[in-house]
Amino acid sequence: MNILGLTAPISSNTAACIIRDGELVALVEEERFIGLKHAPKMVPKKSIHYCLSSAGITIDEVDYIAIGFDRPLKSSFKNLMQNIREANLSRLVRECGAYGEYFLSMQRQIDFLASLSSKGNIHKKLVYIDHHRSHAASAVRTPGYDDAVVITLDGVGEDNAGMIGYFEGNKIHKLRSIPINQSFGWLYGEVTALCGFKSHSHEGKTMGLAAFGKPDLALFDGIAELTDDGYRLVHGFADTLRRRFRTRSKDEEITEYHKNIAATVQFFLEEAVLRVAQSVSRQCKSRNLALAGGVALNCDMNYRLITSGCFDSIFVQPAANDAGTALGAALEVAAIKCKVTSNFKLSHAYYGPSYHNDEIEALLIESKIPYRKLSELREVAKLINDGKIVGWFTGRMEFGPRALGGRSILANPAIRGMNEKINLECKHRENWRPFAPSVLSEHCDEYFENYHFSPFMLMTFKVKDDKREMLQSAIHVDGTARVQEVTLEANPRYYELINEFYKLSGVAAVLDTSLNDREKPICLTPRDAIQTFYTTGLDVMVLEDFILEK
Ligand SMILES: [Fe+2]
Repeated sequence: MNILGLTAPISSNTAACIIRDGELVALVEEERFIGLKHAPKMVPKKSIHYCLSSAGITIDEVDYIAIGFDRPLKSSFKNLMQNIREANLSRLVRECGAYGEYFLSMQRQIDFLASLSSKGNIHKKLVYIDHHRSHAASAVRTPGYDDAVVITLDGVGEDNAGMIGYFEGNKIHKLRSIPINQSFGWLYGEVTALCGFKSHSHEGKTMGLAAFGKPDLALFDGIAELTDDGYRLVHGFADTLRRRFRTRSKDEEITEYHKNIAATVQFFLEEAVLRVAQSVSRQCKSRNLALAGGVALNCDMNYRLITSGCFDSIFVQPAANDAGTALGAALEVAAIKCKVTSNFKLSHAYYGPSYHNDEIEALLIESKIPYRKLSELREVAKLINDGKIVGWFTGRMEFGPRALGGRSILANPAIRGMNEKINLECKHRENWRPFAPSVLSEHCDEYFENYHFSPFMLMTFKVKDDKREMLQSAIHVDGTARVQEVTLEANPRYYELINEFYKLSGVAAVLDTSLNDREKPICLTPRDAIQTFYTTGLDVMVLEDFILEK
């Protein structure tokens, strides 16, 4: 049973995946192929090609095509499509607003799928899954939970901004939706814009900035308020925010003014989501919490939830944003249509393309780039220990916005100022942007307070006082770190590298950030990696078994 999972071409991040007999075979985001961050509102053509070829099948051997968005105006979809073909398209877009856009782009996606088929029976295979149900499925059908509270939070998906429910008996039970006028994604996006960043893209910067400010809920009087079981956003909150606060221009220095607004929205988000989660957990009696939607990428919020004591376990899959709806929709179809009671458990994120040594060497020879064969991983560990900034390209590419040791930039976290050096020389971004550590599994409890399993770098923890110095360049100003726990099973080569570094330095962690330059998606190919190597301040590039040095 083959299921192709797709985002809708109205999603903020587009992606495709393929599931065979309940097991994930491939998952990749379109941005990696086309070089445009998030690849919003696109038909994920290259991702579809990759997924089909990695499963070794054609579209005609796909049983279902699952789409992570509800069918637009179900009853009249067919007629409307007919009308769109015959009528003035741009007028229809105007009249139908966003949904008109969706009709047109969805038709483009269907036409593309049909063009891959020799049988022309694409329509029969299409299954549309509600957007927030898709987000929810991506969160509850991947950690191996028997039951869980599930909360999805984004800007907007269909006509809602979230869903609250629970997972039991292999089914997702919806308790209620979060309406658009109560959208956390929207609130956070507005504040992100006020801080002079790009909303629906740079929310991570706002979260980073929040650590430098002081929260003050009085700033949000008449905008947002906390209630016993959650929160309330006041009607017209976006306009009030814009009226009350001054928007920082891009080149303006960031002062306490904007730091405090960022700190306030972060504090509000954490407090409000915690209250919502507490109230659902009392109702459902599950000790597991699964989160999805773009807001679930907020790792400080996730930390607040895990340390609340309400839950024993929290799970966020790496592509909590819209890209994950491709996965969720496919898993939901597997469960409903195919009655798959899968034991599938997402234990790593390496479901993208990989490249053989032969093709990498051919590229290096063709490009007349000096290189040598890597003799042992210890050699790379030594370079990191000596203070070199190392590009690390190995195995299948990871999915989701965090690099997890497939396409990474690595450095020694114990070196003072290493964070600023990488921001300045390699990432070409603000010097206050924090980095994160990849930590050997066995040492996580020893390094972090109240530690819980965090394999995908989506949770922050307080670094223990005696470990702060050794992790100093991979921790945030407030003494927390966004941890990736690395196990031998999930990524043997990465584990081995960190272990070699540990033997040399006594530090069981490396600083890990994504292999890309400012505003570019994470590198996909060896060619992308080589380009990044020569256009940034990277000292070393490891491409599978080859090493390049400047
Ligand atoms: Fe979404």
